[in-house]
Amino acid sequence: YIADKGNHRHFMVKEIHEQPEVVGRTLGHYLDLVASAAKAVDDIDFSRIDRLSITACGTAYYAGFVAKYWFERIARLPVDIDIASEFRYREQPLSKDGLSIVISQSGETADTLASLRYAKGQGQRIAAIVNVRESTIAREADVMLPILAGPEIGVASTKAFTAQLAVLAAVAIAAGRARGTIDAAEEALLVRSFSEVPRLMHEALRLEGQIEALARDLAKVKHCLYLGRGTSYPIALEGALKLKEISYIHAEGYAAGELKHGPIALIDEEMPVVVIAPYDRVFEKTVSNMQEVAARGGRIILITDRKGSEAAAIDAVETLILPEMPAAVTPLVYAIPVQLLAYHTAVFMGTDVDQPRNLAKSVTVE
Ligand code: G6P
Repeated sequence: YIADKGNHRHFMVKEIHEQPEVVGRTLGHYLDLVASAAKAVDDIDFSRIDRLSITACGTAYYAGFVAKYWFERIARLPVDIDIASEFRYREQPLSKDGLSIVISQSGETADTLASLRYAKGQGQRIAAIVNVRESTIAREADVMLPILAGPEIGVASTKAFTAQLAVLAAVAIAAGRARGTIDAAEEALLVRSFSEVPRLMHEALRLEGQIEALARDLAKVKHCLYLGRGTSYPIALEGALKLKEISYIHAEGYAAGELKHGPIALIDEEMPVVVIAPYDRVFEKTVSNMQEVAARGGRIILITDRKGSEAAAIDAVETLILPEMPAAVTPLVYAIPVQLLAYHTAVFMGTDVDQPRNLAKSVTVE
């Protein structure tokens, strides 16, 4: 494989644009789109598993965080998620009928590998979601679940993130089926919803011009807050991580409901707040948080859909409108505008987007 940016200025933006294809390919590997069913995961009997623990670092951790919502909702399976550097030393008691899932693009992250070994030592079965199939984590796991992302060159992870989400979604559906928490009709509906994701991602990429215009202003700020609820909460965390990694702007992601427990003190005219709020069952709650921001003069960038933008009814909002879609799939599609916003902001700042200072693609030392 020879790394080639093609017509793109950076690997990162090339990889952002590859996502419809990468996610389509990965979903096609784990879902039977003809039968509208999830393929059973070889060697994992979800009907016998009573608890999941998901461990990872960085962006992979946020993919696991989204999956917690999916597994709990679709498969009624309790999920503990952990940052690998905490998990490895915490001596958490692990259920003997539990399954550990580790997620790592490189398959070489030292803390994630140590977590895998700890869980294995506790008698857990290990499933690893990796991009590099020959990696140490892939080899040491009992079950290897590859993402089909192809090599990721940009240090800030993009296509690996959405491909990890694609695998996790498919496995959550398979788990739901195996556990009898969804029936065949619900399974078919979910599978069909996910099969629409590549098309929805293409639509999301069409917002790039508008996002670039917003990024010109964002490049002037010192701090930025990201808010979301439900699965949009980890997307807020991932959006903030992307922005700080490559633009060096201080950014924080927060659960929207926690706004009043701290970050609201920071809100003024200088503080942009990116609100990730598809029109879902928690939308109204997020809107009331947004009103608290607006009342204090905070500049809001709202990422939503048409129904959401109509229902939000807030002045002075800059709105990015995505197509309407089933709630389960929003994390995959809403990842794209937050990635593009970070990317274009960094381009305006003139930073080294593909090789940001102080960061490494793979952290193989503790
Ligand atoms: C580094 C990279 C991140 C990545 C994290 C975990 O911090 O810069 O992009 O998310 O490591 O890497 P992994 O290879 O384990 O997914």
